[in-house]
Amino acid sequence: MLEQIKSTAAYIQSKISMTPEVGIILGTGLGGLVQEINIKHTIPYEEIPNFPVSTVEGHSGKLIFGELGGKNVVAMQGRFHYYEGYTLQQVTFPVRVMKFIGVKNLFVSNASGGVNPDFEIGDLMIINDHINFFPSNPLIGKNNKELGPRFPDMSEAYSKTIIAKAKKVAAANNIKVQEGVYLGLSGPTFETPAEYNMVRVLGADAVGMSTVPEVIVARHMDMPCFAMSIITDLGVPGKIVEVTHEEVQHVAAQAEKKMTVIMKELIKEL
Ligand code: HPA
Repeated sequence: MLEQIKSTAAYIQSKISMTPEVGIILGTGLGGLVQEINIKHTIPYEEIPNFPVSTVEGHSGKLIFGELGGKNVVAMQGRFHYYEGYTLQQVTFPVRVMKFIGVKNLFVSNASGGVNPDFEIGDLMIINDHINFFPSNPLIGKNNKELGPRFPDMSEAYSKTIIAKAKKVAAANNIKVQEGVYLGLSGPTFETPAEYNMVRVLGADAVGMSTVPEVIVARHMDMPCFAMSIITDLGVPGKIVEVTHEEVQHVAAQAEKKMTVIMKELIKEL
């Protein structure tokens, strides 16, 4: 895998003339942050050697390089999900490559179902920890010490320093933010009421189908991570209604302006 990572990184570096220091993964309906980037280069996933190709609706599939909040960034417009049939190694390959082209901090966004009864649809949640409920782990297999340790520490999966700054930025911009634990599972089914209840009992505040694999791989390589969820639906007893991908995209698009402000201002302050 190391050879593939290095050759993909070399390909990308031959196409760009900058070193991105922040990597951003944009979730469902959250592509709008791209409008804030002063774009220098765009590379469609199809052109990148060893990159999987994104399939799900609402994910367009390009790497975008440019300047945001005074920093050089690379954004993944469209991410890879386990439920599409990729292995967790494929899902997280772009994070490996980001590290090899110079990225220091990883920022992630997603849409998720809220299971904390205090949450409302459209809320933003800063992820302060996660539960890996995927059926596997992206680090399973032979470990390469050049990438990271065999048994990576996960005591601070989400950077406390960045979270503290994000809360200040949110307050300064009058944006309400929740904070909590994200449980990541495979999907593609949304949860049954009994499963939402299980997620809550297990100690999570929100549930979704992404983010956890990417953050595990970033932490393996010692990259500080920051992630935010938009609560697009509620898995709370008495509030459970039919969920559709369209509704998830719609709510995410409505709430994304608030998230964009936080991400942009936060990147300025890194
Ligand atoms: N469950 C899982 N993933 C999701 C949800 C949900 O309720 N909402 C958005 N992504």
